[in-house]
Amino acid sequence: MSFPASDAAKVQASFQRCAENPAFIDDFYAFFVGMSPAVAAAFAHTDMDQQAVMLRASLELILPGDEHGARQQVLGRLARLHGPDGVNIPPRLYDYWLEALLDTLAVHDPDYNPALEAIWRRVLVEGVKQVRQCV
Ligand code: HEM
Repeated sequence: MSFPASDAAKVQASFQRCAENPAFIDDFYAFFVGMSPAVAAAFAHTDMDQQAVMLRASLELILPGDEHGARQQVLGRLARLHGPDGVNIPPRLYDYWLEALLDTLAVHDPDYNPALEAIWRRVLVEGVKQVRQCV
């Protein structure tokens, strides 16, 4: 799936405005875990500092960009890791992931607005689809 270059540039710029703030990832997990006890339970034994580093890297990859090579490989690996042979995440929890990320962007991006949210939503729906493709 490809997006207009202007949409890709808008989400990249929005992500850059947020990503340098170390509280961004912490706030994302707080929103995510707060969405449902099922999410909190999934991370009960997770080293969250380590997880934060990996999430930041994976977020960069979930954004539109090079559709080949490293991006596809990492998304495929994440799909296997979250699927039935991995941590086996129920599909409905992906909606929480997406909403938690949008909530975090709304708090952290000073230039956030409804039009930008609509673009983010389109981009994330596609990225999430690729991670949950094995489910
Ligand atoms: C598209 C959305 C998602 C992305 C991009 C994502 C990203 C990641 C990344 C990068 C890792 C670490 C991979 C590694 O160990 O190398 C991970 C692990 C994990 N994710 Fe996700 N994730 C997503 C959705 C979810 C959802 C919806 C849940 C449900 C609660 C979830 C639960 C987990 C768990 C339990 C682990 C393993 C943690 C551990 O090692 O203890 N993820 N995820």
